[in-house]
Amino acid sequence: MKAELARLFREVELIGDPLLREKVLSVWEDAMKEGGWKPEDLEQIPFTLVIEKAPFNLVEHTRAVTLSAFSMGKAMVEVYGDSVEINFDYLVAGGLLHDVGKLLEYERKDGKFVKSLRGKRLRHPVSGAILAARLGLPEEIQHIIAAHSKEGDFTKRSIEATLVYHADFSNFEPWR
Ligand SMILES: [Fe+2]
Repeated sequence: MKAELARLFREVELIGDPLLREKVLSVWEDAMKEGGWKPEDLEQIPFTLVIEKAPFNLVEHTRAVTLSAFSMGKAMVEVYGDSVEINFDYLVAGGLLHDVGKLLEYERKDGKFVKSLRGKRLRHPVSGAILAARLGLPEEIQHIIAAHSKEGDFTKRSIEATLVYHADFSNFEPWR
């Protein structure tokens, strides 16, 4: 399943640390097992349930958010140079995992994607951070996942979390 996930989420290649790359794919694999999804389901799952006919699936959204955050970070480094410090491995890993909790937040009922009971109890930023913590991903990445939505309004977002947060909304608001 890992090879299939690496093919779907090809931005994982942007992560320099091979161990972290592996762990990111393991979190997706773990979430799929726990949510009862198969690799072919991933491109069927809508990226949001808020928009009735979501124009993109969860894989496309995840990739676009990751690349958007990455490009924004690169632009900042290009202009600000050493005055800005961005951990691009954390940024990419956080982008790729920011919505992994949706595999637990959603379920399929009568062919339709709906919010699961566990999703009502724990929204995806929380369940995603738990999944990442379980596989030993660094706290900085757990923070990006947990703070990428309104849950993060109660914390001071790191620069990587801020980039993913804005990239996520940029890939949502225009279609709302
Ligand atoms: Fe998202």
